[in-house]
Amino acid sequence: MAIRTIRLQGDPVLTKVCRPITEVTERIRLLAEDMVETMYEANGVGLAAPQVGILKRLVVIDVGDENGPYIMINPEILETSGEQTGDEGCLSLPGKAGCVTRPNYVKAKYYDLDMNECEVEGEELLARAICHELDHLDGHMYVEKVTGGLHDVTAEPQEDEA
Ligand code: NI
Repeated sequence: MAIRTIRLQGDPVLTKVCRPITEVTERIRLLAEDMVETMYEANGVGLAAPQVGILKRLVVIDVGDENGPYIMINPEILETSGEQTGDEGCLSLPGKAGCVTRPNYVKAKYYDLDMNECEVEGEELLARAICHELDHLDGHMYVEKVTGGLHDVTAEPQEDEA
């Protein structure tokens, strides 16, 4: 496993629509492992493949629940409900955060590394992380959804950076 370089806002790779994964090759397995390691090393709760320069529909999320890390291939949101408003950050924009409104509940489907179809239901931080990471797969950053502008955060790791 290896730590990959996290691309920063302004890098065109973060504005592209990612391609679905049709087959889990050794390269995809390695990418998933590296993304998990890179996310942990950066104290993030999520990371999307384009953030390490790979235009594939793959995200990893770990919000500290018993089922993490989630490794989600070709994820799709099936259902949302409710609303939460709070600070959000992104590993591609270190040191910044902004207020974003998201659904409070999200149900999503995805494929695991054996290409089994899985479902995940999440509330609060998990719901927020799923929405945030899936946006990356379509070339979107949370800053597009911020109300009230961005603010600086301290050098302490933010538990909501993704
Ligand atoms: Ni992000």
